[in-house]
Amino acid sequence: MGHGIGQVFAAAGNNVVLYEPEVARAEAGRARIGASLERAVAKGKITEDERRAQLGRITVTGSLADAAAKVELVVEAVFEDEQVKHELFAAVVAKAPAKAILASNTSSISITRLAAALPAERRPRFVGMHFFSPVPVMPLIELTRGAETDDVTEAYVREIAAELGKQVIVSRDRPGFIVNRILMPYLAEAMHAYEEGLGTAEDIDTGARLGLNHPMGPLELADFIGLDVCLHIMEVLQAGFGAPYRAPPPALRQLVDAGHLGQKTGRGFYTYPRESK
Ligand code: CAA
Repeated sequence: MGHGIGQVFAAAGNNVVLYEPEVARAEAGRARIGASLERAVAKGKITEDERRAQLGRITVTGSLADAAAKVELVVEAVFEDEQVKHELFAAVVAKAPAKAILASNTSSISITRLAAALPAERRPRFVGMHFFSPVPVMPLIELTRGAETDDVTEAYVREIAAELGKQVIVSRDRPGFIVNRILMPYLAEAMHAYEEGLGTAEDIDTGARLGLNHPMGPLELADFIGLDVCLHIMEVLQAGFGAPYRAPPPALRQLVDAGHLGQKTGRGFYTYPRESK
């Protein structure tokens, strides 16, 4: 999601630094933004000058020291591994200005726990800022305060969200926050239904698209989000709430074990590219 987040910040006129330890990955992210902006020009949504200006505001680096040196806001969007996030934020606070706001795009991990690993003076400026995929399209940011997040930081995120054209909802710091708390049981139930042979994958998804007016059915949405991401969030929910929360569906775990993570690997509940829905 990192490139999508960078794209919306640049579109709102901010200078953006995309950091990845392997700089080629940051370059690939910038190239994806470039391709997305070219599509926007072709559709007449932005002008060629706007495309050039937006892309021109985005730089890439493989050096955390360079990336963090002058930032006002850090938005972390690494994969959902608490230890990796702790290590990254420890490195960020060693380089970032004392006043920088530190935000995590985590979809389920406790903001209080992520903040607790930081030096005490950094915790008031640590906040959850959860975007949704595809970031340029989805108009929501889920804001979560940790136990020590201060009012200035919440106000800052609200102001930035308004600049990005995103609406804010505020969730207490509980597993899955609001959106994944309600989404994941729905996706899991669809996967259990699929495993039981209640209907084909296509019929389950068509049921949600045509019967509920959802843009995607639950199995195609899981493939879109990433099956590893879904499994991880379900595990966080199960660990956080205990019984009676159902264990993640075996079909999901098996796909993840096999390396079939959805759209990004070309296979999940479906194979990609799909011929038709
Ligand atoms: N970047 C920029 N714009 C994009 C885009 C992208 N990656 N993907 C799609 N779009 C734009 C298209 O340009 C198009 O814009 P216009 O209508 O102005 O031309 C519009 O979105 C619709 O795209 P398409 O016509 O190509 O495709 P679609 O109508 O099938 O919509 C979709 C695609 C927007 C992804 C839609 O299927 C959808 O909304 N799906 C549900 C997505 C969702 O639920 N996301 C949340 C996942 S949960 C999450 O992210 C958080 C988590 O923690 C798990």
